Amino acid sequence: MKNKLEARIMELRQELHQHNHNYYILNNPIISDLQFDMLMRELELLEKENPEFSDPNSPTQRVGSDINQQFEQAQHKYPRLSLTNAYSEGELADFDQRVRQAIGNNIAYICELKYDGLSISIQYENGQMVRALTRGDGVKGDDVTQNVKTIRTIPLTLIEGDFPNVFEMRGEIFMPRDKFAKMNENRLAQGEKPFANPRNAAAGSLKLQNAKEVAKRPLDCFLYSLSSDNLPTNSHFQNIQKAKVWGFQIPKIITKVDSLEKVLEFIHTWDSKREELSYDIDGIVIKVDNLEQQEELGLTAKSPRWAIAYKFKPESAATKLLSVDFQVGRTGVVTPVANLEPVLLAGTTVKRASLHNADIIEALGLHQHDTVFIEKGGEIIPKIVGIDKTLRLENSEPVKFITHCPECQTPLERREGESAWVCPNEEHCPPQITGRLIHFTARKAMNIESLGDETIQLLFREGLVRNIADFYTLTTSQISTLERLGDKSAQNIISGIELSKQIPFERVLFALGIKHVGETVAKVIVRSLGNISNIMEAPQERLTEIQDVGPQIAQSIITFFTKPENKELIDRLKEFGLQMESTGQLIVESNILNGMRVLATGKLSNFSRDEIKETIEQFGGKPVSSVSKQTDLMVVGENAGESKLEKARSLNIKMITEEEFLQIIRPNEK
Ligand code: IVH
Repeated sequence: MKNKLEARIMELRQELHQHNHNYYILNNPIISDLQFDMLMRELELLEKENPEFSDPNSPTQRVGSDINQQFEQAQHKYPRLSLTNAYSEGELADFDQRVRQAIGNNIAYICELKYDGLSISIQYENGQMVRALTRGDGVKGDDVTQNVKTIRTIPLTLIEGDFPNVFEMRGEIFMPRDKFAKMNENRLAQGEKPFANPRNAAAGSLKLQNAKEVAKRPLDCFLYSLSSDNLPTNSHFQNIQKAKVWGFQIPKIITKVDSLEKVLEFIHTWDSKREELSYDIDGIVIKVDNLEQQEELGLTAKSPRWAIAYKFKPESAATKLLSVDFQVGRTGVVTPVANLEPVLLAGTTVKRASLHNADIIEALGLHQHDTVFIEKGGEIIPKIVGIDKTLRLENSEPVKFITHCPECQTPLERREGESAWVCPNEEHCPPQITGRLIHFTARKAMNIESLGDETIQLLFREGLVRNIADFYTLTTSQISTLERLGDKSAQNIISGIELSKQIPFERVLFALGIKHVGETVAKVIVRSLGNISNIMEAPQERLTEIQDVGPQIAQSIITFFTKPENKELIDRLKEFGLQMESTGQLIVESNILNGMRVLATGKLSNFSRDEIKETIEQFGGKPVSSVSKQTDLMVVGENAGESKLEKARSLNIKMITEEEFLQIIRPNEK
């Protein structure tokens, strides 16, 4: 029994450490805040009940850290605590009771909205903004003063007033919903990755290295608390009102109440009206108003006893399942998609939800016409999270996964250990063929913009293009006679196809659509093997020598080039003049390291000396070979020299493991 408990505690710690990293460092959370809070609570409870397994470095022992090495850090004048969360009204009643037991019944609560952004502490001296820090680990945070100064609703200089000489304003930086939507539209139009939600957009913006860029982002801020050794009054509420007079944007929705009932009323009102707000909130914060009473109630290690956050349930809606479609993708994988009775969820009408795969359908126990609950997490496509079984129709049948391809009727196959069902008819299954054609022309592949998806479908239906090499046989006269395509678009298409002959080899390799050979893998293979014949002839052992290429990828490459039809395809592409050889130039993959001077030391398991230097450059960094004040980041491998480490420590240089380095440069790969 104890063993099992210990194992669960360890598992939770490890998971939470990883999620913290995803959230704070990589700005790329993969679970919802609620899921995170639930894991944290489970761990807190288990640790409380089993103190023999306590650990000073458990994720429960710290508030979380969003420190980013590219900013200077500074100490908070007043440590930043977090709030205890409540998920039910019962927990609020407990809070109310604890407060009353400690300080009696003469209390006033202040109810505020809980803004879903990121928190900021701004220090003022003699009416001037001097510094703005993120929460960081609660004790020190990133100095983002230059970026914060770009937010127009935050005063740089205060209007006359009775403000203390030295004080700190705390608040939440956020991005209004409509401005977020617009910004995402622009990003999409420019081929940039959209942000998942306004919170991520605000966080990503505040951590930009260039304040000019930050100024273009539509950030805003509510300042909801005041800290100083000389506060003007003894009431949180009155202090905030004072701050308003000095020029701060304080919360517009804020109420003073004297009972739990009125707190609940405020919660109900804003839970139902939150859609009307122009920004996201994820709950309500309740604070004891009187500062002396606050002091009497005191603090726990992580949060004050005088405040609590009531968290709303994530937005969800109930609707009816109308039918399930099965879509066949480029690689033959069959994905089930639920068609739903249209329903409003978080401001948009939802008609479809992904069901992912057969296992998920089975785990949900989904029946035809079921009433389902859908939820929008961080991601854009909603998912079905549960079923209201009480509303199930009598005699309704379970949703069954199909056994044959809906497009070509071939029996589906499922590989050992995989959850996806696949149509094996690569050669003749229409959506697989058009999927490959569309992939070939995509922006990151051959970038033939003049060929839209519909035109490709048309060319395929008309029998003009059946494989990627056929594109290069097209003539303007063949195209211009097709439905809705005149001379002009025919010429555009032909010149687009012609231009694609200049596309570098690594993108041609990616465009071939070999299973498991994504953009990055294509690049490393080309860098290592140079040209198409070397790749086609490379045995398994040679392929797996390449960094990032495992046996599965190697096998997939070999299978692809063993097929006579693919060999013929390559011969034809060569004849048409596509690039089949690397130019040997350094390919810049991203600018994530942003000019940082990076030193790698010790033995690394994924890189040789030369490879790590090249990789640093490919991600926009500068490789350096000795530790100095100028060094921004150190990747520490095995048996690194103690003197280098010592020097790095004394200069406060951020040190990371090889694993962490990989996570930074390839956050989406495991
Ligand atoms: S008061 C000691 N008021 O929620 C407590 N926090 O979970 C100081 N937040 O880090 C926080 N809206 O980023 C407070 N009206 C509000 C808030 C609020 C959002 C955030 C804040 C804090 C987190 C705590």
